Amino acid sequence: MAETIAEIEERLDVLARGSRGLLRTRFETDPGRLARYSHRVAGIRFDLSRLDIDPDVMAGFGALAEAADLAGWRERLVAGDVVNPSEGRAATHMATRGTGPAPLVAEAEARGEAMRTLAETLRGEPIRHVLHVGIGGSALGPALLLDALGRDADGPEVLVVSNIDGEALSRAMAGCDPAQTLLLVASKTFTTAETMTNAGSALAWMKAAGVTDLAARTVAVTAAPERARDWGAGHVLDFPDTVGGRYSLWTAVGLGFVLRAGWQAWADLLEGAAAMDRHFLDAPFEANMPVLAAMADVWAHRFGGQAVRGVFAYDERLRLLPMFLQQLEMESNGKRVDRDGQPITRPTAPVTWGGTGTDAQHAVFQLLHQGTVPGPVEFVAVRTPGHGLDGAHHRQLLANCLAQGAALMQGRDAATALSLAGGDAALAGARTFPGNRPSATILLDSLDPRTLGALLAFYEHRTFAAAVLMGINPFDQWGVELGKELANAVLGGGLAGADPSTAALMREALG
Ligand code: F6P
Repeated sequence: MAETIAEIEERLDVLARGSRGLLRTRFETDPGRLARYSHRVAGIRFDLSRLDIDPDVMAGFGALAEAADLAGWRERLVAGDVVNPSEGRAATHMATRGTGPAPLVAEAEARGEAMRTLAETLRGEPIRHVLHVGIGGSALGPALLLDALGRDADGPEVLVVSNIDGEALSRAMAGCDPAQTLLLVASKTFTTAETMTNAGSALAWMKAAGVTDLAARTVAVTAAPERARDWGAGHVLDFPDTVGGRYSLWTAVGLGFVLRAGWQAWADLLEGAAAMDRHFLDAPFEANMPVLAAMADVWAHRFGGQAVRGVFAYDERLRLLPMFLQQLEMESNGKRVDRDGQPITRPTAPVTWGGTGTDAQHAVFQLLHQGTVPGPVEFVAVRTPGHGLDGAHHRQLLANCLAQGAALMQGRDAATALSLAGGDAALAGARTFPGNRPSATILLDSLDPRTLGALLAFYEHRTFAAAVLMGINPFDQWGVELGKELANAVLGGGLAGADPSTAALMREALG
């Protein structure tokens, strides 16, 4: 009889408790390790060989993938079947880049054409600034694309505003000429309080400056087109409600990027994502990078008790990647019940955190090297620089990135530290590094639309595969609802049963 999921998980628990040798020695005893866990896909080298995995662990995960029906869920995902049971929905973001059944792809292509037509019209107009208003998935993806690939492009400047704090919008507006600004309101639901308030204030600002054709200067991108028209948007681009906010950057939510960088960049982005889709759908699990990475993730946090995962971009252009991943991973997999609504006893998503190298080295890496919060670290770097300065900059950047991974693994033993400390035992303690700390390195050949598309699709599939291995639904986010409801109640002054702390703060902050 086939092993059950519970039995396989127990088997993995036993492996996690047993000593499987130090990371360093596993390289020495297994010459095939690097080749086994390091692969190139779509212009990206994924090196997972310094993660805390080995053939026994991966054999356990092979069994878990089978018992959890990873292949079946992957099939349901791409086919457009319901994979989000709490909302009774499919998740069709792959169709937006041409992956999936013909009718779904054709529908997405028609939407893409509408976006292209509007982009062409708008590119012909005297627009110098685009105010992109949206939040969460309606902002993080576009902001990342613009920051990573739009810096030197020649289209209008796009400013992404998400926070309800008026500081954000007023600063953005201060840099724009209202007479030459396009307002782009991105909201799947077209009800999100922050976005609607920001959009209203932006419209009022344009009107106050004498702009008369307000509707013509407003584009809404949404899964609720009627609501957007009622609101007064002159141009409406829709996307299906089967595309989740954090998976929506491939829809017209990316219009600002198209206006800035042009259609070819957009087409290349989607093509790169589609290349990663093909890899995810076709490669055997043992060489399937999103699947392997998901297995390593689940192994670290579910069985290894590692509650954090650090992501450090060794490239300024990718400085928004950690934030984008925080939403993708934590909103998708930060769950306390399984797909059937039953409480889960094991950990689900870890905390994703991170920063930019080399800045982060001089701020938070102390904890990575000698702290007591274990968790895998991921380095993301690009072989070729995006700037024209002396090559020394980029060589130093990459050298630092590689050195950090090596230092995490190598460490420095007590004897070496003692000799460096001239025999001072206390100083030697402070200068000892345990090493054997896991890390992964993702090295892009270059940062271009195609490669970034592949990278982001890799992260999407990895998140999905981890969810399947944990038996959870990555496509809903009910956990954000309660806070929204209570914020409305606080605003209305009627938060029933407010605890004494909230009641006192309400009186002081809101009067
Ligand atoms: O509150 C969470 C959330 O629903 C995210 O999932 C989403 O990306 C964000 O809010 C914005 O939602 P919308 O696109 O509907 O404005």
